[in-house]
Amino acid sequence: MLQDRLGRELRDLRISVTDRCNFRCVYCMPEGDYVGLDRSEILRLEEIERLAKIFVRLGVRDVKLTGGEPLVRKGVERLIARLCAIQGVEDLSLTTNGSLLKNHAKPLFKAGLRRLNISLDTLDNEMFQAITARGSLKSVLDGIFAAKEAGFSPVKLNTVIRKDLNADQIVPIARFGRQHGFEVRFIEFMDTGNGNGWDPSKLLEKAQILEILASAGFSLVSKGRHYKNTPAVSFKTLDGSLKLGIIASVSEPFCQGCTRARLTADGKLVTCLFASMGFDLKRVLRSGAGDEEISSAISRVWEGRTDRYSEERLERLRSGKSPFDPKEQKLEMVRLGG
Ligand code: GTP
Ligand code: 5AD
Ligand code: SF4
Ligand code: SF4
Repeated sequence: MLQDRLGRELRDLRISVTDRCNFRCVYCMPEGDYVGLDRSEILRLEEIERLAKIFVRLGVRDVKLTGGEPLVRKGVERLIARLCAIQGVEDLSLTTNGSLLKNHAKPLFKAGLRRLNISLDTLDNEMFQAITARGSLKSVLDGIFAAKEAGFSPVKLNTVIRKDLNADQIVPIARFGRQHGFEVRFIEFMDTGNGNGWDPSKLLEKAQILEILASAGFSLVSKGRHYKNTPAVSFKTLDGSLKLGIIASVSEPFCQGCTRARLTADGKLVTCLFASMGFDLKRVLRSGAGDEEISSAISRVWEGRTDRYSEERLERLRSGKSPFDPKEQKLEMVRLGG
């Protein structure tokens, strides 16, 4: 099993299948017009499949598809069927904004996908418009229920909490999850990319989120992490009616268990969500390299890895320093897939 310089194994692969998105979420998109990648730069489905097989041979067990918005990529169902057929993949999932799920839920299920994470930051129409700029809440709710209807389980709802924006949605979304049998995950707002306006005053920490839920009568029991490497800490209500997770990348970083590699839509291997660059695997792939050569390149990158950005950010915050260096340009979330 491959290990990085901090002893972390390579277990998960997050594949961004496109950098396009039909939303422009305030917490994700850089300011100004985002210029998408040229089509020729994007990995073809066969290229993604080939790389995924190599990653699995190196120890990857869990594969996640992301974007941009993964469902705007033509052929995503075909890709899922091919990834499902790879021996050694134990878990395949997809994270989506939900807007196109109404029509995609059944084909995705038919292709072999069994679980989905869907963004839902608010149940209020106006707020939804303000957050996503282009989205419609109805299309997302239709998508969420289409996923349930198609048989997906679990359906997890991802709610990014920005203190000044949607903290009042914590309780309504938790009730919504409980009423309809969805797992709800509250995510601390993170300083991804370069222009999402993050500052500590916009952060509502895990402990505060739990207080809000407790005040509204949710009696939550901590279940810890599902696996030691999962970002979410899990909770359950005493009566078992709601499963809940909190992803506290800022207040309780989980870099020690970070077993995740990321493949961007244009074939860069990135080892941290907050990285400023990736290794150009596509160049190796398109130079005619054999699987062994590609595999060695991945191994070298992983074995040299020392990333622990969120731990370092907490150290900086605690010592009163600026949480990040504005001169350090990070890759944008829409390219990295979260
Ligand atoms: P499961 O497979 O269901 O456990 O999903 P997940 O929580 O790993 O992934 P998802 O795509 O639903 O992402 C939820 C949130 O976790 C997003 O805000 C991601 O950006 C964040 N996240 C996922 N992996 C990492 C990571 O390695 N580091 C940090 N800081 N955040 C991460
Ligand atoms: N902070 C926290 N989570 C974020 N996501 C996107 N941008 C941010 C951010 N700045 C989440 C999305 C989606 C997942 C892929 O990442 O809401 O659920
Ligand atoms: Fe929003 Fe996800 Fe699109 Fe970013 S990629 S703008 S978080 S829907
Ligand atoms: Fe991994 Fe980077 Fe996230 Fe830490 S901040 S858990 S190293 S992706």
